Amino acid sequence: MIFETHAHYDDDRFEEDRDALLRRLPEEGVGVVINSGASVESTRDTIRLARDYDHVYAAVGIHPSEIEELDEAFFQWMREQASWEKTVAIGEIGLDYYWDKESDVQEKQRYWFGRQIELARDTGLPIIVHSRDAAADTMQVMKEHHAEEIPGVIHCFSYSKEMALEFIKMGYYIGVGGVVTFKNAKKLVETVEAIPLEKILLETDCPYMAPEPYRGKRNSSLYLTYVRDKIAEIKGVSPEEVERVTEQNARTLFSKVK
Ligand code: NI
Repeated sequence: MIFETHAHYDDDRFEEDRDALLRRLPEEGVGVVINSGASVESTRDTIRLARDYDHVYAAVGIHPSEIEELDEAFFQWMREQASWEKTVAIGEIGLDYYWDKESDVQEKQRYWFGRQIELARDTGLPIIVHSRDAAADTMQVMKEHHAEEIPGVIHCFSYSKEMALEFIKMGYYIGVGGVVTFKNAKKLVETVEAIPLEKILLETDCPYMAPEPYRGKRNSSLYLTYVRDKIAEIKGVSPEEVERVTEQNARTLFSKVK
């Protein structure tokens, strides 16, 4: 089965057909979905989705571009949610300097990234890291907080293969999604070539990042077959092998998933 490690089914773009789509996934071979929190609202919605659907699990966390909403009361609420049996990760957390260029905002991002890493340590959960245009600082915050002692994934990986190997050395998995199918995806293709299949997770980041031939359209976990097949082609193995190994990887990392 396909293990979807990163989706946002709380997004408005699923308003019309969310229930039908989520019910259909297991029939189409997508057996597990981790829905990732990003804002305060989406983290609350993520918990609701995990309550409503057997095959949906929750990651609780605040995305770097949403940290203005984060306060101690919500942080405490996330800590309480973390002990629930269907909360399987802290995420998505990290740094995003693409949208936020001001140094005081970036400073705040680093502060809450660190706090959420510590939340993962305290609650025994893995982390789902979002990092964009902030490779060096991401590595630095992770090292300051000894993130090598915490399992996790660098989701929607967008850096060099050298950087991927450095994260793998710290024990991290690399999340690969629709971008790998894009015609200009040279860097990510090189990364997939360079890293072991045992370190790759399948993810959509849906509704974003739809693979070819659906690039630009609404993405869903149904399209993970295109990502799986592209990875199989790059690695010279069968799609079944990619599906089997990435499921095993995801189950190792997100060990609370049944
Ligand atoms: Ni995401």
